[in-house]
Amino acid sequence: MKKRMVGAVCAVVLLASQALYADDAPVPTQIVDTMNRLFGVHPGFRANHAKGVVVEGSFKAAPGAAALSRAVLFAGDTIPVTVRFSDATGLPTIPDGAGNANPHGMAIKFHPPGGADTDMVINSLKFFPVATGEDFRDLLQAISESPADAPKPTKFEQFVASHPSVPKAFATASTPDSFAHETYYGIDAFVLVNKAGAKQAVRYIMQPEKAVHLTPGVAAKRPNDFLVDELPARVSKHPVVFHLKAQLAAAGDSTKDPTQPWPDDRKVVELGTLTLDKTVPDSLAAQKKLLFLPGQITDGIELSDDPLVAARNAAYAVSFSRRQ
Ligand code: HEM
Repeated sequence: MKKRMVGAVCAVVLLASQALYADDAPVPTQIVDTMNRLFGVHPGFRANHAKGVVVEGSFKAAPGAAALSRAVLFAGDTIPVTVRFSDATGLPTIPDGAGNANPHGMAIKFHPPGGADTDMVINSLKFFPVATGEDFRDLLQAISESPADAPKPTKFEQFVASHPSVPKAFATASTPDSFAHETYYGIDAFVLVNKAGAKQAVRYIMQPEKAVHLTPGVAAKRPNDFLVDELPARVSKHPVVFHLKAQLAAAGDSTKDPTQPWPDDRKVVELGTLTLDKTVPDSLAAQKKLLFLPGQITDGIELSDDPLVAARNAAYAVSFSRRQ
């Protein structure tokens, strides 16, 4: 796995220039600058998760969801959603089966009637390689300073040696045979608040009807766009269904370290069913206009002390402003 990851990273490094970011820029700007150097600047495309596809559908809460959160999403109405599935990296033409296209992403915009949109931005890693925006910047920077001919140990190898969660996290994602057959994880902790004001820290899990993964060899032989082409074809034939679940933190579980998954025996509660049944005629044009923000939440859902969400919000906004 390590060899595969380093190989993937080296391929990315070939694209990097040696320019450094402005040290006095805010961390989220430094992150997007580093992504732009790693992947190149592709006008109109996201700095990360550049390649994707948009579909639409609806969300219907499970009966028990309202006991956890008073959010309008969980009141039981059928709520329209816009969903974008994506490949990792800022490369708009990355082959869907490439190792670097992992983790795949899922971004959901809930449109409650009469309410403000609420977003969830989740991916196929079970936990994150690093815990803070600063560490993510340093990881990307270490990758950009570790070309194939760099002296050993490379900056990337040094970073991994001091951050063992990096290879562990990357080892949790592999290529699915369909965007519909992947489990997506929220990673960041949020706090659900019910009508009585009771609070419960959770991490979201978006579970497919079934998960199917390919070996790297099989994935590499699939056509370039097999995931982004397959999803609309599938949705136009029959609805794609996911189950939104919440893993509940127990006393003592850390909410501020997204590199640390909570134990598998923590209770998992069904929050509702997501049904995707509409294709979008011009998905490329639609995704350019969309901005999903992990911190765009509504009453009944609060941020935890997880520092990644603020860093992500700011970086996504920088990327959005550049791609407009
Ligand atoms: C410090 C940590 C992170 C940073 C700085 C970061 C940065 C970014 C940036 C700049 C974009 C492009 C946004 C745009 O142009 O709209 C992006 C997209 C995305 N990120 Fe992150 N990310 C981080 C962590 C995560 C985590 C933890 C997840 C999943 C749990 C995630 C999932 C995604 C997804 C799914 C997209 C595509 C969103 C879309 O379809 O519009 N990212 N990320």
